[in-house]
Amino acid sequence: MIVCICHRVSDRDIAIAASSGCPNFEALQDDLRVATACGACRDCACAVFEESRVDSASPRGRGVAIAVRVQLAA
Ligand code: FES
Repeated sequence: MIVCICHRVSDRDIAIAASSGCPNFEALQDDLRVATACGACRDCACAVFEESRVDSASPRGRGVAIAVRVQLAA
């Protein structure tokens, strides 16, 4: 799902950044430019980022993050 229309950032892009160690939302904005134009996506982007951070901290979430990295490396 596209979260940020202005910069074509998806929920998956945000989840990958979160699971890769992006420390906070400001860093996410620097990396992906999400919520840096009109700002309409900010609340949704923050929610997806926080949810992804929680998921990546759980054992199941770490497994998903590893699987995503393996897929990206292939
Ligand atoms: S929709 Fe994300 S900055 Fe406009």
